[in-house]
Amino acid sequence: MNNDYAELTINGKSYAFPIVEGTEGEKAIDISDLRKKTGYITLDPGFVNTGSCKSEITFIDGEKGILRYRGIPIEDLVEECSFVETAFLLLHGKLPDQEEYKRFSDILNESSLLHENMHLFFDRFPQSSHPMHILSTMINALSTFYRHVDSESVEGDIFKSSAFLISVFRTIAAFSYKKSIGEPIVYPRHDLPFCANFLNMMFDSPVKPYVIRDQIVSVLNKLLIIHADHEQNCSTTAVRVIGSAQVNLYATISAGVNALSGPLHGGANQAVIDMLMQIKNGGKDISKFIDKAKDKDDSCKLMGFGHRVYKSFDPRAKILKEECHKLLNIIGVNDDLLEIALKLEEIALKDDYFISRNLYPNVDFYSGIIYKAIGIPVNMFTVMFAIARLPGWIAHWKEMVDSEDRKIARPRQIYVGYTKRPILRD
Ligand code: CMC
Repeated sequence: MNNDYAELTINGKSYAFPIVEGTEGEKAIDISDLRKKTGYITLDPGFVNTGSCKSEITFIDGEKGILRYRGIPIEDLVEECSFVETAFLLLHGKLPDQEEYKRFSDILNESSLLHENMHLFFDRFPQSSHPMHILSTMINALSTFYRHVDSESVEGDIFKSSAFLISVFRTIAAFSYKKSIGEPIVYPRHDLPFCANFLNMMFDSPVKPYVIRDQIVSVLNKLLIIHADHEQNCSTTAVRVIGSAQVNLYATISAGVNALSGPLHGGANQAVIDMLMQIKNGGKDISKFIDKAKDKDDSCKLMGFGHRVYKSFDPRAKILKEECHKLLNIIGVNDDLLEIALKLEEIALKDDYFISRNLYPNVDFYSGIIYKAIGIPVNMFTVMFAIARLPGWIAHWKEMVDSEDRKIARPRQIYVGYTKRPILRD
């Protein structure tokens, strides 16, 4: 318990507000009764200085490049755990024991089929639909087919409903892709683990059976673990805000998917590939592109470089850089874009402009390259991010639902429009 307080003086009158301290020493001023005491509110566009909740799920230290889920460093999780175990950790606060793991995996298996009538939906989306929009629509529609998992029963059996959603979400993602390329859907297989099962649903075909490669399954597991949570980012905040109105879990997660679909959030890895295409189409002149990115009069940026929170390095990028180079060595680089990416990385890392501003490749630089190398189409990159982020979203939703100070999210505003005026017609 911290007895420190912050003093605020408004027009000569002082008010005290308690200081709250987290387990890692982060400090905040608790202003929950600010308006009641003073009549004032705070104004903080983009919530840059606002802590919206207390959370036990994920810790980030951007200065030191630290990311931990439930206290466990991300580096240890990618080495020793599967995505399914990591999802369990995020959801339930601990890694599963044998019995819990079996129960969780059994539900993942049993839930992987999508209601057959929902297959018809896929046929009605225009061929050009972005898979993220198909995904969010289908997740929202789940509440009409799986009514037993409504907001109340979800709270009662989060173990079952979270495993159900994680499993069926992956099936919907793979089906969206198959439909978008006009191929028959591939059903989930009970004999395959989570990532292998997903790859098989994505790439198996009646004319060319998919050969599951361990290296690809392993790198996919790591990618999903790395993206599984990142505390109060835009989509997670959307999930908490919408869930606070007691909206059912499916509609809440569907909102998270929509938030993630924005180019400022989940779309950066796709932007990396677009940038590489631009360099390719411009005659592969990498130095010219780097000069453009350095030019203050040009809006061009090196996509996949720099980060708002991580200022020394992005721990996720550090892991993926190694994985990316390992994978490309194994499968061989025979793709122009991948070659350009590797050269770009080499040149930028030696350039003073980037060194002096601490601009290193971020997680999206490597994730885009890896997804491309393992055959994931560019318009599915953000869907991959969504599959990974789902356990984080559910964990935050659950934490919000269970919290003692649960309240509907309802910020205030400073009104700057007209004051009262009569009806005027020109
Ligand atoms: N290319 C060229 N210059 C850059 C870049 C870049 N990618 N990023 C930052 N700079 C420059 C910027 O112009 C500024 O220069 P100066 O000091 O001379 O004015 C300096 O570096 C500091 O940049 P900033 O804009 O203050 O940094 P920020 O923390 O506001 O922005 C960022 C962070 C990620 C938005 C930005 O680096 C960027 O736009 N990067 C490219 C897009 C990208 O890769 N986004 C994905 C981020 S990871 C997503 C996730 O965590 O989920």
